[in-house]
Amino acid sequence: MAFEPDAEFAAAANAGVALYDSATADRLEFWAEQARRLHWEQPWSQVLDWSDAPVAKWFVDGKLNVAYNCVDRHVLDGYGDQVAIHWEGEPGDSRDLTYSELLAEVSRAANYFTELGLRAGDRVAIYMPMVPEAIISMLACARLGLTHSVVFAGFSPTALRQRCDDAGARLVITTDGQWRRGTAAPLKAAVDEALGGTPSSVEHVLVVRRTGIDVPWTEGRDLWWHDTVTDASPDHQAQAFDAEHPLFILYTSGTTGKPKGILHTTGGYLTQASYTHHNVFDHKAGQDVYWCTADIGWVTGHSYIVYGPLSNRTTQVVYEGTPNSPDEHRHFQIIEKYGVTIYYTAPTLVRTFMKWGKEIPAAHDLSSLRLLGSVGEPINPEAWRWYREVIGGNRTPIVDTWWQTETGAIMISPLPGVTATKPGAAMAALPGISAKVVDDDGAVLDNGSGLLVLDEPWPSMLRGIWGDMDRFRETYWDRFASQGWYFAGDGAKLDEDGDLWVLGRVDDVMNVSGHRISTAEVESALVGHSGVAEAAVVGATDATTGQAIVAFVILTAEATNTGEQLVAELKAEVSRAISPIARPREIHVVPELPKTRSGKIMRRLLRDVAEGRELGDTSTLVDPKVFEAIAKS
Ligand code: WTA
Repeated sequence: MAFEPDAEFAAAANAGVALYDSATADRLEFWAEQARRLHWEQPWSQVLDWSDAPVAKWFVDGKLNVAYNCVDRHVLDGYGDQVAIHWEGEPGDSRDLTYSELLAEVSRAANYFTELGLRAGDRVAIYMPMVPEAIISMLACARLGLTHSVVFAGFSPTALRQRCDDAGARLVITTDGQWRRGTAAPLKAAVDEALGGTPSSVEHVLVVRRTGIDVPWTEGRDLWWHDTVTDASPDHQAQAFDAEHPLFILYTSGTTGKPKGILHTTGGYLTQASYTHHNVFDHKAGQDVYWCTADIGWVTGHSYIVYGPLSNRTTQVVYEGTPNSPDEHRHFQIIEKYGVTIYYTAPTLVRTFMKWGKEIPAAHDLSSLRLLGSVGEPINPEAWRWYREVIGGNRTPIVDTWWQTETGAIMISPLPGVTATKPGAAMAALPGISAKVVDDDGAVLDNGSGLLVLDEPWPSMLRGIWGDMDRFRETYWDRFASQGWYFAGDGAKLDEDGDLWVLGRVDDVMNVSGHRISTAEVESALVGHSGVAEAAVVGATDATTGQAIVAFVILTAEATNTGEQLVAELKAEVSRAISPIARPREIHVVPELPKTRSGKIMRRLLRDVAEGRELGDTSTLVDPKVFEAIAKS
């Protein structure tokens, strides 16, 4: 059953059918029109230059400043007193920042970064929890043309070091510690560990005091934010940068062990982040209170907390903590407190709310909500219905938004007020975007399941993998090289009405609570333990997290520990090497791994085992008896 748009909502919606029509009539002119929603210091001479495909140039010769567009512009237009950020700290403290205050803070940071000798093109790593200074730092980098690389504060020192080295970061910005369910966990200490040992490109570590815990200190290298940025001048003149100037690098998991530094640039990225935020969330500046629950460590936080919303003069909630701190009412209390109208979260959280029970949201007045969004993984129809009924009061449209770190902004989604929605379906490519479902040979399907491809360049597309353009071509473009299509790595289906359903990854990337983790990355962490000779990892279906990590390991002859102690050690090893989010749910010690005659591990069979299914086809297996052994262990 489809949910038709509500007439009243449709009448006032930002988007209309006309948006599809104008995009179809002249795609490039359509995007030029969207770009004109921003302030350009110098206009472009050409909308798209695709001559160097797959590296696009959008808005060629155009110049703009991202921070000016996200902050200064609104103050100059007379909205300086509008709240930009209602920040809610985990322990219950809060802080409101108006656009004028945000401008002063960003300017101070920009002045101090300049004083540190940082210049346009330099890289800065941001390793912070969800505090206002994290957003201020990102905007200050954008203002100066510094390329930021935000590293999720749940990542390990090893992961941080790898990202700092790969990007050649000169500065790391962090906090003393971070609040997690009522306790202050160290964070600066992780930076010290990351930078210890061999010399790195990092010259300074700038530290925001958040929790007040003691921190180790390296004189000359480490700097307190409150001794430096806070004293800097609040006036700063933003300079415009080329539309293709690198804005940020964001590392994401691929099918091999090494994370990929996805590179995004300025003009096209901001155009699409801004356009999608305006239309997909039907955002009305000065009226809506918007809340995206993501962390800035992921792309959703970049595009839908920082750049999209702020470019549209949004008043938004930013929350530091977990949804059950101090208890399961927290999100609903926040919605009530600020009168949140637009709420954007991941299916895994919706399923967690379902588990906690509907009495919890029912204890709160959620009537301010008028639109709900979903992102990060396929949303199962049951969770979709629950979300609409229990959180959305049977009233709100739901936008299920498909996109990736690589796409930079939303690509496939219903438009609220325009598209009739089906529970679990992302429905259709947005105006200006072209997506197809194709079979293995690249034949375009008009119904049925296949691979999801993007067959036209789009403004916020990645411009490459930092330092590895060969890998960029191989990963995304080689699969359908003759057609020149971008291969997303996802499967999709078109139903009998031609509506699109995203089915999930078709490669060795797992999706745990909306986080992308590669099987190879976890395997390499496991074999890093001296007791493990070989490891195979699969993502098994999990009722709450979408997928959960299940590992199978073969021990070395020297393995001293076996059994539970070893499993506990291995789980800790993965948390340490990558992050607690990559910690396997189960680890099975097995005598052998199922391999094809060419030596490839048959993950499909391991997935069957992990999900407790009858074994599928084992005919290509070297030794089908392996499974008897695995089943017994
Ligand atoms: C998955 C997050 C189904 C998909 C923005 C994609 C989704 C990967 C959806 C990107 C959705 C994201 N429906 N699957 N609405 N949104 N995905 O880079 O497998 O962290 O390839 O970007 O998440 O994850 P990433």
